[in-house]
Amino acid sequence: MKLVTASNLKIGMVLASNVYSLDDQLVMKKGTVLDEDSIQKIKSFSVYNVFIEEGSNKSEVSQSHEGPLPDLTIPYSQRIKESPEFATFKADIEKNADALKNKLQYIVNSDIPVNIDSLIDPVYTLLEEAGGTSGIFDMLNNLHIYNDEVYMHSLNVALIGNTIARWMRLKESQIEIVTAAGLLHDIGKTLMPEDLLNKNVPLTEYEEKIMRTHVTRGYEIIKDQKIDEHIKNSVIMHHERLDGSGYPFRLSGNRIDEVAKIIMVANVYDDLTSMRNNRKPLCPFKVIEAFEDEGLRKYDPDVLMTFLSHIVNTFIANRVRLSNGLEGDIVFINPDHLSKPLVKVKDKYIDLNQSDNLFIEEII
Ligand SMILES: [Fe+2]
Repeated sequence: MKLVTASNLKIGMVLASNVYSLDDQLVMKKGTVLDEDSIQKIKSFSVYNVFIEEGSNKSEVSQSHEGPLPDLTIPYSQRIKESPEFATFKADIEKNADALKNKLQYIVNSDIPVNIDSLIDPVYTLLEEAGGTSGIFDMLNNLHIYNDEVYMHSLNVALIGNTIARWMRLKESQIEIVTAAGLLHDIGKTLMPEDLLNKNVPLTEYEEKIMRTHVTRGYEIIKDQKIDEHIKNSVIMHHERLDGSGYPFRLSGNRIDEVAKIIMVANVYDDLTSMRNNRKPLCPFKVIEAFEDEGLRKYDPDVLMTFLSHIVNTFIANRVRLSNGLEGDIVFINPDHLSKPLVKVKDKYIDLNQSDNLFIEEII
């Protein structure tokens, strides 16, 4: 399925999920084939975007068959990076990271009320440009080779958080709260010393202690704002862990806010898979494996398993380099061992779950 804005709906498209109004009333049921009246009805409820079954619009199907077929000998990620959609997305996310920097610094330096609607609006535009939940990881996976910093990271966490919330089938109003929490979660970093933020060797214990104050200082910035409490809680709780091993309060289990539990997973995934000053990005499959190994103790099982089971599917058809140097394409995800899929190398299939010591080293 893909996310389509109300203004781009066409007759013949099929709804892939129920459509709800802003006050959570059911507007239209999943499976409805859109006609002129139903499109008007969706627009009249000010619904921003809806999920549509892929290829459910006849004109779209015929168009896609008329275009040139992709060259399957070129690695998937290379095809993504060379696409005009990626160029547009990359330019826009960089522009929006700059804009977010200005907005967050403005919030820090003035008493102006935070306008959540205008803050989250660019995230929805980026999601739409990426082709919705099915396309956003194609874009983000290929952006991670570029060094990024606080504001790009915050945008990524908002995009990933929004997507997790959608996969969890939360209401649109809750998805917006998660999105805003993603954008604001690291607002305290605007007050951290530049030299610590840009340090290209690991932080000392003392520096780490200072850096950890970004959660409490961030909370101080937004605590008196008239915004949803889940957003404020996410700012102060996104480094807590369910087993009590996090900071600042070593909260455990159900004392951690439900939105913060989503931001925690989005934050860690983006952090580990992105380029940082003192290290290269980790391969997403290494991160998925680490989540599978110890994630259920530290993260909300519902959030984590929803995220992992969906995200591995975004890597199907990606070309990978295995730890023995061979290159192949991911063809099947093993639901019991998400980090060990079936890989096709030339005309041979390698089941990583059956191959001890063999793993995915890099997505290429
Ligand atoms: Fe943080």
